[in-house]
Amino acid sequence: MELGLKDRVAVVTGASRGIGLATARLLCAEGARVLLVARGEHEVVEAADECMEAGAKGGGAAESLACDVTEPNAAQRISAAARDRFAPADVLVNNAGQAQWRDIDDVPDADWQAAWDLNVMAPLRLMRELVPPMKERGWGRVVNVASTAGKRPSASMAEYSVAKSAQLSLSRLYADRHASEGVLVNAVCPGPVKSEMWMDPGGLLDQSQEMGGHDSREEALDAAGGKRPIGRLAEVEEVAGVIAFLCSEQASYVAGAAWSVDGGTVQVII
Ligand SMILES: NC(=O)c1ccc[n+]([C@@H]2O[C@H](COP(=O)([O-])OP(=O)(O)OC[C@H]3O[C@@H](n4cnc5c(N)ncnc54)[C@H](OP(=O)(O)O)[C@@H]3O)[C@@H](O)[C@H]2O)c1
Repeated sequence: MELGLKDRVAVVTGASRGIGLATARLLCAEGARVLLVARGEHEVVEAADECMEAGAKGGGAAESLACDVTEPNAAQRISAAARDRFAPADVLVNNAGQAQWRDIDDVPDADWQAAWDLNVMAPLRLMRELVPPMKERGWGRVVNVASTAGKRPSASMAEYSVAKSAQLSLSRLYADRHASEGVLVNAVCPGPVKSEMWMDPGGLLDQSQEMGGHDSREEALDAAGGKRPIGRLAEVEEVAGVIAFLCSEQASYVAGAAWSVDGGTVQVII
């Protein structure tokens, strides 16, 4: 299937590892010119190098920008970097995120605010900055990476769940506003994914092992996978493939979706 992404300019936030890096790699391999954004400078430069290799055959290209997307001027910096290094962005993937397991009563006010800033304000500012020029050119794609937790709140991830629900609502508002102008906005809702967020030492797997009283990481992983009809966690590429499709020419009649990529976890039919 031809995705029609060749020479498109894409911004992917949270692209130094995990789902974001897998998405950037895939877009590059499809011939897109991708600006990778994350806070860690060394990591995001290395990630862009990896994407350049992936894009070598298909004419894709990659550049990096070290930037905290929650900074008030981040959207302007990102927009300018995409324009200066390539051209105005055609595609935006709002993917930067982080999560932590704990009881709702243990979440301090500052972390509720941080979840809002990262999952709502940062995507909002980026859409506000990047969508109008897409609209002028009559073509654009935005994918907001939310979570199953945004559809069905997770008791162990309270501020994350609430912020992801708000992100889904924001995504839908933008979708309705811009669909007739050629700019298609969608969300994806992954279930647990074997990215660094889960698998790194101290990450969600270790946290779930501790909170769930499991004897080993393997036992905790089996328990987390066993809660899904598909019986396991996702690989990052399985989520990236859906995101890349939604960024593509092929998704020309998809707008306002909150596309589950969760191995059947959230049992709803809409
Ligand atoms: N993994 C899962 O199970 C899962 C499930 C559902 C939804 N999701 C969502 O999928 C997205 C990606 O998650 P992942 O699992 O790939 O996470 P990950 O492996 O931890 O990667 C997160 C990425 O976001 C960047 N980032 C974090 N905060 C940032 C900020 N303020 N500004 C710029 N970049 C920032 C990180 O780099 P720096 O730290 O260097 O900034 C990194 O590149 C997130 O929105 C997450 O909520 C993940």
